[in-house]
Amino acid sequence: MAGKIAPSMMCMPLEDMIEGLKNFEKNQIEYLHIDVMDGQFVPNMQLGVDYAKNLRRLSKIPLDIHLMIERPDEKFKWFAPQPGEYVSIHYESTVHVQRVLKGIRDTGAKAMLAINPATPLCVLEEVLPDLDGILIMSVNPGFAGQKMVPQSIEKVRRCKQMLLDRGYDKIEIEVDGNVSFENAKLLRKAGADIFVGGSSGVFVKGMSFDEAIAKLRESIL
Ligand code: DX5
Ligand code: ZN
Repeated sequence: MAGKIAPSMMCMPLEDMIEGLKNFEKNQIEYLHIDVMDGQFVPNMQLGVDYAKNLRRLSKIPLDIHLMIERPDEKFKWFAPQPGEYVSIHYESTVHVQRVLKGIRDTGAKAMLAINPATPLCVLEEVLPDLDGILIMSVNPGFAGQKMVPQSIEKVRRCKQMLLDRGYDKIEIEVDGNVSFENAKLLRKAGADIFVGGSSGVFVKGMSFDEAIAKLRESIL
């Protein structure tokens, strides 16, 4: 199965929203990636509950809600997760990781665990049965437009191997941060399944959405 694309909606210029969403539907975009930032877990604030709910109203594409917030334990419910959507929480953001993952699944949505560049893969081991996806951050979260942390490619490769070794090959690996056409190719080879398209993958200066998405799709066959 080819790789999937999740455009990073915080990169969408407000004035392009309606046309952009129509374009994404035409291009059969798999998820809309929503970066939720609380100014605590990351040094930035972005996108919230009403934003997510409005997107559901404006588009049929399932949401991929990336919670970069402290203690998501109860807060994830504010987003009213829907079947078919992904909700990701950060390993570093709560001491009750397993409880929250289970809570997400109980809503009918798919549970994903995100890990920052400095967080080792071994923290995933005990919760593999609770996961539908793993989000490997290829930058330190907080801002679009950063350079990829180079060891991310090897990390994705080791993560994929771990999933194969343990019989969890249905768990999808998502990558987020500087997923350029070149990096996407390497990350795909390493085993990534879902690609967050930000300022270097979907919202590329001088390129239309049609052009950028076609080029990104080609990199993740
Ligand atoms: C990073 C965000 C990303 C970001 C990706 O904190 O989670 O989703 O928007 O954008 P680029 O591709 O520009 O790194
Ligand atoms: Zn993100």
